[in-house]
Amino acid sequence: MKVAQFSRIGFIMAAAGSAVGLGNIWKFPYMTGEYGGGAFVLVYLVTIALIGFSVMVAEMLIGALGRRDTVGSFERLAPPDKKGWKYAGFMGFNGLIIMTFYSVVIGWIFYYLFEILSGLPTSTDTAKATFDNLVGNEAGIQIFWHTVATIIVTYIVYRGIKGGIEKINLTLMPALMLILFGLLIYAMNLDGFSKAFSFMFEPKWDKLNSEAIVRAIGHSFFTLSLGMGAIMTYAASLPKHASITKTAFIVTFMDTLIALVAGLVIYTFLFHEGAPAAQGPGLVFISLPVVLSNFGTLGTALALLFFLALSFAGLTSAVSLVEPVVQYLIDRFDTTRFKAVLIAGIGYYLVGIGALLSYTKAWGGFFSIAGKPLFDILEYSTDSILLPLGGLLIAIFVGYVLPKERVAAVLKKEMGERVFTVWYFSVRYIAPTALVFMMLNLTGILKIG
Ligand code: PFF
Repeated sequence: MKVAQFSRIGFIMAAAGSAVGLGNIWKFPYMTGEYGGGAFVLVYLVTIALIGFSVMVAEMLIGALGRRDTVGSFERLAPPDKKGWKYAGFMGFNGLIIMTFYSVVIGWIFYYLFEILSGLPTSTDTAKATFDNLVGNEAGIQIFWHTVATIIVTYIVYRGIKGGIEKINLTLMPALMLILFGLLIYAMNLDGFSKAFSFMFEPKWDKLNSEAIVRAIGHSFFTLSLGMGAIMTYAASLPKHASITKTAFIVTFMDTLIALVAGLVIYTFLFHEGAPAAQGPGLVFISLPVVLSNFGTLGTALALLFFLALSFAGLTSAVSLVEPVVQYLIDRFDTTRFKAVLIAGIGYYLVGIGALLSYTKAWGGFFSIAGKPLFDILEYSTDSILLPLGGLLIAIFVGYVLPKERVAAVLKKEMGERVFTVWYFSVRYIAPTALVFMMLNLTGILKIG
């Protein structure tokens, strides 16, 4: 089995590119708004530090030791009497489920990049009408941009780990950071900044209910790309001698930093114009363009840069969502990368059309189950169920199934004795407990608050 290897910086950028995505720049800011700001951010940060980082190390370890596709890595590492663990490797298919709606949203972003050029909407009503019209009526336009997104993403994946994935991440990730930090510096000089800062970092405990906690845990997995084998698949191409612990730390840190920066930038613009925080998923598509229209031509430039950064973030994550299945198909069926990409691509592309149609007025009823649009079902089932389940399996596998000596042999020399003990405790007890709590809460067995 020959898996191409990343360069060390290529791996860091690819893993960070996977983690930093629409989850950071689109979802995190609007979720923060919906759940009232500071308290939600605090739970999110604590979850990332306590569980997210530990599970990321565990997931990277499986990939780095297994050196195969996700199914192959679990199979190879499981003891002889526990080979059934290979089925956990099918978590790699979650990526395609996420891609169904992720690609649609990247399509919206592409559409907006062009829409912005013809001028920003000056009132929330017009902005809302544009967004609602796109999502509710313009199936053709959405299918067009979803197709463009699919072609770009599948082409990058087709070019492989070195020539496609590593290259795109080494280019787009620095560009994305440059744009976002540039916007942050600009935002810091605006009146709204201090308000945005206190909104995000002063906890309002009364807003914190069990739903907010569950969503924060779920989102911490989504944002770090955990629980579906993306990081595991990349780690199968980890250069020898690269430190798992260090890389996981850098990736977690960058991902968190970028989410916080995106939140600060967006809320500064919003508060600068006196707009309210709770805007829902339309936050960056409706509220932000209106707010920026008050800045004149500069506003158009800022909006362009923002949507450019958003599209970069989306693309680098999207390739990591497709790669696990492609790697699996290549390994298992000895097929060419081209064929594997074609199968995976067509698969998510078609369901994606169903997802976007489920929001349209004409087809919504047809693509809904029990009144819930397919788009929402796909998003909810991955974010809130499948990724945490994947995370739980990873934690149990590394914490209980893999022999401790094997785990320690790699990680102790990276972390040192004391940190290893804390990390191992987290993987065995803290992460599973939090994830089980979350799932029980979802099923309604345990409802607090
Ligand atoms: N982490 C990405 C984001 O925040 O948008 C989404 C994602 C990518 C989730 C890859 C899971 C994954 F495996």
